[in-house]
Amino acid sequence: MDYKKYVAEKLATKDLAENEIRELLSVPPDLEKGDLTLPCFKLAKVLRKSPVVIANELKSVFEGDVNFSAVESVNGYLNFKFNRASFASQVLADVLSGKEKYGSSDMGKGKTICIDYSSVNIAKPFHIGHLSTTVIGGSLYKIFEFLGYKVVGINHLGDYGTQFGKMICAYKLWGNKQAVEKGGVKELMRLYVRFHEEAKQNPELDDKAREYFKNIENGCREENELFTWFKDITLKEVKKIYEKLNIKFDSYAGESFYNDKMQPVIDELTEKGLLVESDGAKVVKLDDFGMPPCIILRSDGASLYATRDLAAALYRKKTYDFYKCLYVVAYQQDLHFKQLFKVLELMGKEWAKDMVHVSFGMVSLEDGAMSTREGKVVLLEDVLNKAVEKCLNIINEKNPNLEDKENVAEIVGIGAVIFGTLFSGRIKDITFSYDKMLNFDGETGPYVQYTCARCKSVLRKSGEIKDYKVTSVNDDEYALTTLLARFPEIVKQSAEKYEPSIITRYSVDLAEAYNKFYFDYRILGEEDDVKNYRLALTSATLYVLSSALRLLGISVPEKM
Ligand code: ARG
Repeated sequence: MDYKKYVAEKLATKDLAENEIRELLSVPPDLEKGDLTLPCFKLAKVLRKSPVVIANELKSVFEGDVNFSAVESVNGYLNFKFNRASFASQVLADVLSGKEKYGSSDMGKGKTICIDYSSVNIAKPFHIGHLSTTVIGGSLYKIFEFLGYKVVGINHLGDYGTQFGKMICAYKLWGNKQAVEKGGVKELMRLYVRFHEEAKQNPELDDKAREYFKNIENGCREENELFTWFKDITLKEVKKIYEKLNIKFDSYAGESFYNDKMQPVIDELTEKGLLVESDGAKVVKLDDFGMPPCIILRSDGASLYATRDLAAALYRKKTYDFYKCLYVVAYQQDLHFKQLFKVLELMGKEWAKDMVHVSFGMVSLEDGAMSTREGKVVLLEDVLNKAVEKCLNIINEKNPNLEDKENVAEIVGIGAVIFGTLFSGRIKDITFSYDKMLNFDGETGPYVQYTCARCKSVLRKSGEIKDYKVTSVNDDEYALTTLLARFPEIVKQSAEKYEPSIITRYSVDLAEAYNKFYFDYRILGEEDDVKNYRLALTSATLYVLSSALRLLGISVPEKM
C-alpha cells in the first residue's frame, strides 16, 4: 500500500488538493518521530489558520484508523506511526507477489533511452580506463529496462582515424597473419609502437600511412578488409569481457559508421549560418556561451570527433526517436559534450535538452599503475582475473570444502570489481584496492552476495514457506521492512540521477539490516507463527537483494 497516497486521499478536501498534500508528506530522518510526517506550515496560508491548529484538526480524521498505531500533532507537524503489523504484512505481500519484478514499473512505457557506453577503441587494449563507463552504462541499461523503458545500448566504437593507416602500414611491412591471429590486440599494439619508432627515422612512413588511411575512407578493398579484420579481432577480445560482466549492446555503430552521414550535417550548419572560417578550419563559434569554438572541419578538410558525434546524434534521433540519449563518458570530455549539446541547440534541435552527459571520475590502482602513456596499461582482463584468483584463495582459506568453488570465485570476484566500481557516486575518482573490494565483511559485493547465500541457506533448511501471519513486529524486523518498502523508490531515484551507486549503497544497508535481524533473533527454532513470518521476511529480503545486484550486473551464488 502507498501510505502517502492513502493519507493524501483521506485529507483531501475542496480547499486542499490531494497532490499538494502528497508533495508535503515526507519520511522523518529518525524512526522515533514516526514513519511519515506532514509539515503544516505551507498549509497555513491556504487555510488561514496556524500550523498547530491545522495539525490538531487533521489529526481527528485518523481517529480509529487501524493502519496507524499513533497519529500525533507536534508543533505544527502531523506525525504518523504505522501499525507495524499491518505495514509489515502489506510490504511482505507486495514483495512476495512481485518476486523478481518487485520494484519494477511501467513508467517508461513507450519511451526509448539510448545509452552510449563502453565505446572502446579498436586495436587498443581494453584497460581499466574503460571499466567505469562499461559497468555504469551496463547498470543504467538494466535499471531503465526494469522501469519499462525500451533501451538501446550503443557501443560508439573508436574506429576512425589516421592511426589505422599507420597500423595497416606497419602490418604490411612487419606483420603476418599468424602472429596477429595468435597475439590479437597485443600484436596490433606491438606493430603500432614499432611504426612510431621507425617513423622517427623514416618520415616517409607517415605519408604512406596517410595514403592507407585515405584508402580506407575511399572504400579501397584491401585496406578495408584489413581494417575490418583488425576490428573483428578487437571485438572478439572485448566481447569475452562483456560476457563476464553481464553486459550487452544493441548497436556497434562506431565513429566510422558516420563517414557518409557527416555531409548533411555540414550542409545544415552552413545553411543555418553557424559555420565560420577560422585559420582555414570550419568551426561553430561558442564565445557567447563561454566555450572555445567547436571545430567541425580541419583545414585539410578532415572531420573530427565532434563532427561524427553530431552526425551520430542526428542519426540516433531519427532512428530511435529517443526520449533521452545518455553518454556515459569520463569527465575529461565534459567540454566536448557541452559543445556538442550547444551546437545541436543552436541548430534548433529542441531535443538537445534530452541529451545527457553521464560523467564520471577516474579509476586507478592502489599501486599507482594507470597511465597509458608510460606504457603501464592495466588490462581489465588482468584485473578481473586477479580478483577471481584472490577470491579463490579466500574461499580455500575459509571454506575449502565449498562445492563448485571455481564458479563461485568467478561470480564473487567479478561481482566485487563491479560493486567496487559502482559504490561511490559517479563523479568521484576511485582508487582500487583488491583487499578492500574483496572484504567479506565490508561494504562490498561479496558481503551482499554472502547475505544472499545466507538467506538461501535459511530457506533451504526450512523447506517451503507456509502461510504466515504478522502479529507483532520487533525493531529489527521493522527496520528491515521499511528498507524493503523503499526499494521501488530507490530504483527510481537511481534512474533519475543516473546513479547506480544509490542501489549499491542501499543493498549494503539492506544486507546489514538483515544480518542484524539474523543475529538478534532465531528463525527456524521458533514456533510456527513467528517462524513462518521470519521465513517470509527472509524470502522477501532475498528477492530484493538479488534484484538490486542484478540491476548492478552482479550474479548471486547458491552457496558461499
Ligand atoms: N571512444 C571514446 C573514448 O574512448 C569514447 C566515445 C564516447 N562516445 C561518444 N559518442 N563520443 O574516449
